[in-house]
Amino acid sequence: MPTDPTEDQAALRGWLRALPKAELHLHIEGTLEPEMMFELAARNGVRLPYADVRAVREAYQFTDLQSFLDLYYAGAGVLCTQQDFHDLAAAYLTRAHADGVVHAEIMFDPQTHTARGIPIQTVFAGLASALREARDTLGLTSVLLLSFLRHLSEEDALRTLEQALPLRETYADLWTGIGLDSGERGNPPEKFTRVYARCAQLGFRLTAHAGEEGPPEYVRGALDALGVERIDHGVRSDEDPALLAELIRRRIPLTVCPLSNLKLRVVDDLSRHNLARLLRAGAMVTLNSDDPAYFGGYILDNYMASATALDLDRDELATLAGNSLQASFLPLADKARLLDRLAQAVTQP
Ligand code: HPA
Ligand code: ZN
Repeated sequence: MPTDPTEDQAALRGWLRALPKAELHLHIEGTLEPEMMFELAARNGVRLPYADVRAVREAYQFTDLQSFLDLYYAGAGVLCTQQDFHDLAAAYLTRAHADGVVHAEIMFDPQTHTARGIPIQTVFAGLASALREARDTLGLTSVLLLSFLRHLSEEDALRTLEQALPLRETYADLWTGIGLDSGERGNPPEKFTRVYARCAQLGFRLTAHAGEEGPPEYVRGALDALGVERIDHGVRSDEDPALLAELIRRRIPLTVCPLSNLKLRVVDDLSRHNLARLLRAGAMVTLNSDDPAYFGGYILDNYMASATALDLDRDELATLAGNSLQASFLPLADKARLLDRLAQAVTQP
């Protein structure tokens, strides 16, 4: 008897949901759903250039990274109080938990907020309270990756780091790493060599966006000039075979975000996304949602869309989930425990 494709999809979704997964590429400001944007705008007396929630969603037609960033930074303007940052993170963590995320490494952009006069303490305190609550009530662990905006100067990044450092002890359980995001073209990793050297010296874990829109040379620069352990996106790495060979040999994780790449036209069709090819070539590929409120899908949607468009089988999907745990900044003992749970979960029907 032929099987019903809708039933197959529902069964696959249920199976994927039950796999313990880590989300490693997620901008908390990119989880601001239009409904919350309106709620916070009303709460804070901020005027939005949209009539309603539907108008916001209709505006999300992006042609490239910058066309998205313009709306993303404008949307973040409704985040004002500690409570706002708390509510934003709490909503994301609840959603991620429902998708089977057991650990999240969450990027945040303090410069977007301090430039508007929001104290960096407000941002940390609000996010941290939600992250600690999720750990205690949902068993979902998470860390914060303070991300520098690459369209701004390295001096601005260094000043931001100095503002944040007095808070390090208070948030030592959460703030474990740094990242680099925003407009990639024309802002090579080498621009941030000093701030990364300082963060390495301070013992932070290091990651950076590279090879999303920017060329493979930016991935090379992130590895060599910044010393990162992970590459966010990195999908253009296969334009340089020697670079790809090195990523595979060194098991450098790539935090790939398929629906983001589709929405920002890094790829024109998911069936042509190179993540399956990279995975099958032995690269340490992970799947993530990037800015789910803007790109139309959370992590499970990214797994499902990739599985369907690229014919990923269950072994490959389990490998992607396993890679996410391996590529996380969790201690080895936690990784081993979660990998055991994953080995159990893959055997469910
Ligand atoms: N790329 C660069 N900067 C970003 C992104 C992204 O995908 N999302 C939020 N900031
Ligand atoms: Zn990103």
